[in-house]
Amino acid sequence: MTKIALFASGSGSNVQAIAEAVQAGSVPAEIVLIVCDKPEAFVLERADKLGIPTFAFLPREYESKEAFETDIVSRLRAAGAEYVFLAGYMRLIGPTLLEAYRNRIVNIHPSLLPAFPGKDAIGQAFDAGVKISGVTVHFVDEGMDTGPIIDQECVRIDSGMTRDDLQKAIQQIEHSLYPNVITNLLNGNREDYNR
Ligand code: GRF
Repeated sequence: MTKIALFASGSGSNVQAIAEAVQAGSVPAEIVLIVCDKPEAFVLERADKLGIPTFAFLPREYESKEAFETDIVSRLRAAGAEYVFLAGYMRLIGPTLLEAYRNRIVNIHPSLLPAFPGKDAIGQAFDAGVKISGVTVHFVDEGMDTGPIIDQECVRIDSGMTRDDLQKAIQQIEHSLYPNVITNLLNGNREDYNR
């Protein structure tokens, strides 16, 4: 089983979906660590219930990003993590983590990148009045939501749909797309992913 780590900052519904898919045997992985930069985040309660080890930290207690990423890397290595999947982790990944896990850090973003990168992608798409948005899973590089795209799925924004409706539709897609992409990546089905 490939050992993976998940990073989150908030509710953790994607963490939950991935963990349930792992438990059901449909994702060939063991989640060895959940990393969270917000000690009050709900994802940590989910992790406790799921019985998954966590590392929660406060960035301001470190001297620099390099310092907390160095700590994260040593905890990832101690846990044996081979891949990192970001699931609502609200921080740019710095050189320390990128170098330690080159081409092994993946993110999920709630828009069809390169449209609407950054914060509140769902609100950005809604306010722009686009008729199609969706979800992107991509490798992480030094930019904000700029790395090579692995897979995407779209959502139609019908008239009468509220921002909340869009969020629900997007999250529903995320919860099946992300476990599927992780499975394909870990199974080595990467031909679609390397262009
Ligand atoms: C998701 O919409 C994900 O695409 C984005 O952050 C959100 C996290 O939601 N990067 P949750 O914490 O998994 O519920």
